[in-house]
Amino acid sequence: MAKGDNQTENVTPLNLQTRMSYRINSFEEYKEAYKKSVEDPEAFWSDIAENFQWRQKWDKVLEWDFEKPDVKWFLNGKLNITENCLDRHLKTRGNKLALIWEPNDPKEKFVRLTYKELHEEVCKFANVLKRNGAKKGDRICIYMPMIPELAIAVLACARIGAVHSVVFAGFSAQAIAGRVNDASCSMVITSDGLNRGAKQIPVKRVVDEAMEQCKTVEKIIVVERLGWAVNMVEGRDVWYHDELKQVSEKNCQAEEMDAEDMLFILYTSGSTGKPKGVVHSCGGYMVYADYTFRNVFQYDESDVYWCTADIGWITGHSYIIYGPLLAGATTMMFEGVPTYPDNGRFWQICDKHGVNQFYTAPTAIRALMAGDVDDVLSYSLDSLKTLGSVGEPINEEAWQWYHLHVGKEKCPIVDTWWQTETGGIMISPLAGITELKPAHATYPLPGVQPVLVDAEGNEIEGNDVEGHLCIKFPWPGMIRTTYGDHERCRQTYFSTYKGKYFTGDGAKRDKDGMYRIIGRVDDVINVSGHRFGTAEIESAINEHPKVVESAVVGYPHEIKGQGIYAYVITAEEVKDAETVRGEIIEKVVQMIGKIAKPEKIQFVSGLPKTRSGKIMRRILRKVAEGDTSNLGDTTTLLDPDVVDEIKAGAL
Ligand code: PRX
Repeated sequence: MAKGDNQTENVTPLNLQTRMSYRINSFEEYKEAYKKSVEDPEAFWSDIAENFQWRQKWDKVLEWDFEKPDVKWFLNGKLNITENCLDRHLKTRGNKLALIWEPNDPKEKFVRLTYKELHEEVCKFANVLKRNGAKKGDRICIYMPMIPELAIAVLACARIGAVHSVVFAGFSAQAIAGRVNDASCSMVITSDGLNRGAKQIPVKRVVDEAMEQCKTVEKIIVVERLGWAVNMVEGRDVWYHDELKQVSEKNCQAEEMDAEDMLFILYTSGSTGKPKGVVHSCGGYMVYADYTFRNVFQYDESDVYWCTADIGWITGHSYIIYGPLLAGATTMMFEGVPTYPDNGRFWQICDKHGVNQFYTAPTAIRALMAGDVDDVLSYSLDSLKTLGSVGEPINEEAWQWYHLHVGKEKCPIVDTWWQTETGGIMISPLAGITELKPAHATYPLPGVQPVLVDAEGNEIEGNDVEGHLCIKFPWPGMIRTTYGDHERCRQTYFSTYKGKYFTGDGAKRDKDGMYRIIGRVDDVINVSGHRFGTAEIESAINEHPKVVESAVVGYPHEIKGQGIYAYVITAEEVKDAETVRGEIIEKVVQMIGKIAKPEKIQFVSGLPKTRSGKIMRRILRKVAEGDTSNLGDTTTLLDPDVVDEIKAGAL
């Protein structure tokens, strides 16, 4: 299908209302909704949840305890999210486009699938999964490029009640193995290879390497994308297209799921240890993804919506697949990169498909800003109504460029703040409804109760203040646990500030009550909108035989937002620094993936540590930023002299 043999040329025109239901239509309505969501959250969310197709209605809307933590939404409600994404729309939107797929190469044909067609593809693949032994509760790892089969695979897992764990196709074999083993996945869905701009990457080979360390995987289903010869292990590996031929049934009865059953696991990095599997459940996530999608983007029935994220991240889960499909939207996915074949690719695609809502990351905007402005000005971009930003703070300059050159000053920009753990957007303007302020995520969505706290955990009242961002009341899309280790979930998110979910972010609330996210206050680095724990990168660097110890910090990077700066101690003095740097980078690529490559590696003889052995990262961050004028008090350090050496050798 990815080869463009499934074009739907004649799509029946729609005869549907253009306004969507339970959509907030004015600032007054926003204020009313917000008030109700705080005064009576259960009634608020219950009214919204009524709009979905439940096999059995819930007995109780919410039970919660942030100490344990134990959060349950729509208790005893039964549903299948794919019935809500697909079956529910068949009568009214059967011939509406559900998915548009734009390939990496603009000369290759795109693919369009109506709701009817997507439903059929998902059902057929769900039958393939069952044929290969997958069942409710199994964990299935999906490691795939941005091709339609990826969306189909995700939905097919949900259809049969298997838990999908999508791993971004830029991660290394080692990283896949860690994730597959952590969740004891029984199956992997992958492809022969992938296209990324001018490059082609042998995906199946990476999976094969990972499998050397994975004992639980019984089946691998391989999609043919490049037509490359790949190693197929007899009895374990099967081709997607061959398997489809074996299933004649075009329907697949959806598995009945409890609202609190696991829908998916998505691994994300924190400040300590290896990445953890954030768990989202079926009912609450569904309600939240849909509600936030409709309201933030103000999608109208005949719009074409495009989110440029990869499905390997939460943004792709919630705002390429689930949110838009739940709302009956036309969602687009793109296989390629913004700079291939040239810097105009995003804008060419917007014009080609008449995109109305465009959602991307600041890093992409900054990369395109660095190019020639004619690359954007040569496209009309007339269809655009709403622009979105996600993943990291958007600096004012990028905001203004996006607003002027892409949005032609007529499109609101929704700067959406949220996290893998929150499941959906938490703080954001509602396009055209609530006020905008450059570089501000602005106001919380209805149902979201943010608070700023000081170092002691006291709530900071009033406006024009700054603190650590917490959420003090549950919302349906929130994390339920970290897979296989509930204590880690408690420790990471619920133990820092008693009775509150701690986001790890610092934020300001301005004089009007608008939020501005400043960035992480923990040891997490956000590189091009991707999260890495410093500990994770350090342990990869420490794998190098010459390395004794390392410390990694983030520093401001013009395009990526943050770059990775590593301070490395070696056993012996490094003679050929460039070679060792190359080897260290190679280690990181091997253990994590290319996306986590350190930008700068400084060899040092020691690290600034307190007498108790704690690395003073504040000092390292300052040096990496190039700000050595005010390093604060260094007299409490075990070896204060090391700071001068580090300053002198700064890159
Ligand atoms: O630091 C915040 C930043 O990205 C982190 C969450 O990363 P992740 O779980 O990978 O999810 C990214 C996509 C939702 C947050 O803790 N972040 C996300 N959105 C914004 C942001 N920082 C500032 N402004 C945003 N709009």
